Amino acid sequence: VPSGEALHAEINRLKKTRNAVILAHYYQTPDIQDIADFVGDSLELSRKAAETDADVILFCGVKFMAETAKILSPEKTVILPDMDAGCSLEDSCPPEKFKAFREANPDHIALTYINCSTEVKALSDIIVTSSSAETILSQIPEDQKIIFGPDRHLGGWLSRNFNREMLLWPGVCVVHEAFSETELLKLKEQHPGAPVAAHPECPPAIVDHADYVGSTSGILKFAQSFEGDTLIVATEPHIMHQMEKALPEKTFIGAPGADGNCNCNICPYMALNTMEKMYTALRDLEPRIEMDEELRLQAKKSLDRMLEMAS
Ligand code: 13P
Ligand code: SF4
Repeated sequence: VPSGEALHAEINRLKKTRNAVILAHYYQTPDIQDIADFVGDSLELSRKAAETDADVILFCGVKFMAETAKILSPEKTVILPDMDAGCSLEDSCPPEKFKAFREANPDHIALTYINCSTEVKALSDIIVTSSSAETILSQIPEDQKIIFGPDRHLGGWLSRNFNREMLLWPGVCVVHEAFSETELLKLKEQHPGAPVAAHPECPPAIVDHADYVGSTSGILKFAQSFEGDTLIVATEPHIMHQMEKALPEKTFIGAPGADGNCNCNICPYMALNTMEKMYTALRDLEPRIEMDEELRLQAKKSLDRMLEMAS
């Protein structure tokens, strides 16, 4: 495996010979974000995956995102640098338990966060991302009972915002769960007047101190428009790469965990993807996402509803 500039050049060369597109999430390291053809939030990445005319999608994100790309673009070869790049929310929601939960609540529809397995998508009615959840929820009749999973913090935040009761699955994101309210308050004292932008996967104790709550792309938009020179960012810290590039005159500070720094909030799953693994994935077209066709078609229904309702 080459290194340094040669690695960079080889990835670009293989990308051309494979007719591949590189999609990356904002939580990937700066080198991966910078070599990608497109960097985005979960909804934007799903849309790109559905639209692309490339033969190969190298998905630099976690497995459920690459699986979403495969569900929407089955004729494409979808590769992921590291197949172990999972997600604690997906892990919290085994399909058989989710199925039993649905069966115990037959009068509820399942509105499900995209951070789940293909099997759970197939058991759901409508998928949401954090950037589409509010728009989609506002279209569901008020008397319709809802199960929301697997992120109880996103579900709780939607529930409070819409004043709407939902049955919540008890999953959490390990990254957003690790922010410390005590340390955040100390940081706010050190930077009086600096606004806080938080992802709705954060627990209420963090979200309650936020001036803006929204998806990664929403947080990036807020960073473009906030007044002042310093912003505290309560989500995975690699997103700050885009802010620092676009707004070098401003200061962005990652919200801290209990140890007082933001490094404990790096997503351990996203961190498994590296430039070296991107190179070998493009070279070998492995690890590759494969999927049972019946399962794919079933999961596609709830994803298609999201894409229709979100636009
Ligand atoms: P968004 O990019 O849709 O805000 O999602 C954040 C996330 O946690 C992805 O795993
Ligand atoms: Fe999953 Fe959280 Fe990592 Fe996103 S940041 S992939 S929700 S563990």
